[in-house]
Amino acid sequence: MCGIVAYIGPREAYPVILKGLKRLEYRGYDSSGVALLHDGLKVYKKKGKVAELEESLVGQNLHAHAGIGHTRWATHGEPSDRNAHPHQSSNGKLAMIHNGIIENYTQLKNELIRKGYQFKSDTDTEVLLNFIEDIQRNNQCILEEAVRIALKRVVGAYVIVLLDKDNPDTLIAARKGSPLVIGVGRGEHFLASDASPIIEYTKEVVYVNDYELAILKADELVLKNLGNEKITPFVQKLDMELAAIEKGGYDHFMLKEIFEQPDTIFDCLRGRLDITNNTITMAGVLQNIDQLKSANRIIIIACGTSWHAGLTAEYIIEELCRIPVEVEYASEFRYRNPVVHPGDVIIAISQSGETADTMVAIERAKEQGAFIFGVVNVVGSSIARISHAGAYTHAGHEIGVASTKAFTAQLVVLTLIALKVAWEKGSVDQERYTHLLHELYAIPEKVREVLLLNRQIEQLAKKYQGATDALYLGRGYNFPIALEGALKLKEISYIHAEGYPAAEMKHGPIALVDEHLPVVFVATRDSYHEKIVSNIQEIKARKGKVIAVITAGDQTITGMADDTIGIPEADEILAPLLSVIPLQLLSYHIGVAKGCDVDKPRNLAKSVTVE
Ligand code: F6R
Repeated sequence: MCGIVAYIGPREAYPVILKGLKRLEYRGYDSSGVALLHDGLKVYKKKGKVAELEESLVGQNLHAHAGIGHTRWATHGEPSDRNAHPHQSSNGKLAMIHNGIIENYTQLKNELIRKGYQFKSDTDTEVLLNFIEDIQRNNQCILEEAVRIALKRVVGAYVIVLLDKDNPDTLIAARKGSPLVIGVGRGEHFLASDASPIIEYTKEVVYVNDYELAILKADELVLKNLGNEKITPFVQKLDMELAAIEKGGYDHFMLKEIFEQPDTIFDCLRGRLDITNNTITMAGVLQNIDQLKSANRIIIIACGTSWHAGLTAEYIIEELCRIPVEVEYASEFRYRNPVVHPGDVIIAISQSGETADTMVAIERAKEQGAFIFGVVNVVGSSIARISHAGAYTHAGHEIGVASTKAFTAQLVVLTLIALKVAWEKGSVDQERYTHLLHELYAIPEKVREVLLLNRQIEQLAKKYQGATDALYLGRGYNFPIALEGALKLKEISYIHAEGYPAAEMKHGPIALVDEHLPVVFVATRDSYHEKIVSNIQEIKARKGKVIAVITAGDQTITGMADDTIGIPEADEILAPLLSVIPLQLLSYHIGVAKGCDVDKPRNLAKSVTVE
């Protein structure tokens, strides 16, 4: 959560920072601000999105060659001008931006209050900044030293970047638990939460590790640990193009990303699936195949949409590999006292690779001897690095806050893992294995066909946009898709929606059904088909409005439902890859029809780096 950008070098800092903040807005958009070194230290901040900050600064003299910027997802203190970052230290000499949470901030704040410090905001960030100022004053040391001492006392997660009025040619940054990338240009340096603000200027980057401090001048980068020892920066080449982070003619990133799915799924299969020789090549799986195929149990850990991918994988892995699977919310797993054995394999799923709960859950499982396999989208992210092995989902940069293409890529990778392990273990026969490989290969083309339904779904969205509630029902492989459809609708259109196993409905939720309630069935033709047809009848008997995602040509359901969305036939194991797409489009179009900001839904952020 929260996006940070900083620049030092010969360019005008403000336009670089502003553009960077717009690219990072997916991380939070409660307020934004910049601090610039021009004629002293100037701080400008504003509640609301980056565009509001930009508008408030029109006509100002913002000339500067060093600056820091922040876009906030509020944790400590409501969204307001006063709680917006950057914060300024008591003596007015330092400005700081922060992403993360300082857990012992109350204790530090009380110490500072006793010394006479006063606070202008409710944030933990201002406390840390004044704590640094206080250390510098007491020890008469340079800022770098004060930051190091302060961070040894800090409990929590942070990326911080400081500007110092007395040292205008230096930026100081540090990281623990939140992401930080340095862009290395010619005679200039960039800092950001991810590479998207940097890519336009340089492809050379350094990913800062936990407990590292970066001291940046225009033409110098020094990396140190908290023990003041120098570390050689590992400069990597970014494998990303600017076009990948632009809308490319679509109205919203969410729509662009939904439409990218034939390609992202293909990219995910590329080099892994060989249908000529009927093989799957995944280095991370192959190198650890003994561990995976002899796992006593697989525990899947994730949050949100990634958790829904995990739940789908539970059905697939148990069916193909005959290994028991449990699917855990990372936020619950990390705080209870779970029983994990060395023979257990943890599959951690995360688009961002930075979700705080998932990271801590991994650490807990690691402490108990489990083997961690990461399924992550963002290359080089924290979860990718702390896992013992893994497979990337290769969905490209996902900017829309609601996850779409990352979800289908996760499903593809998890299916490939299940197939590979099942084959090596001998729990799937040749015929089924070969059939599934060929079916998987055909998925990108079938996704393209589903996307042709966009206009039909847009019309449907207009019909149902006035709903206040919705129920999403599915069985078997399509049950997690019902959950995912409901989540997408909630987050994008703010319509209350619940996902449920279709058969569970009669144990309670059926009481909600009346002529006003849209009930979305995910009812493609599979081994549960007859059962779900009965569930549809139960809803119709109570006058509910049924919208059904069906296998094209299914006359039985077409005859009963109010509206149907017909998608291509697929093996039931792979059907979720198709059935989720109409639900993504339905949420998108309802959100747009209601005038919601679909790329930046209220209260959300793309990367949840706080617990
Ligand atoms: C919903 C959504 C979230 C994320 C969740 C986990 O559309 O995007 O529910 O899936 O915050 O994030 P990652 O996958 O980055 O760990």
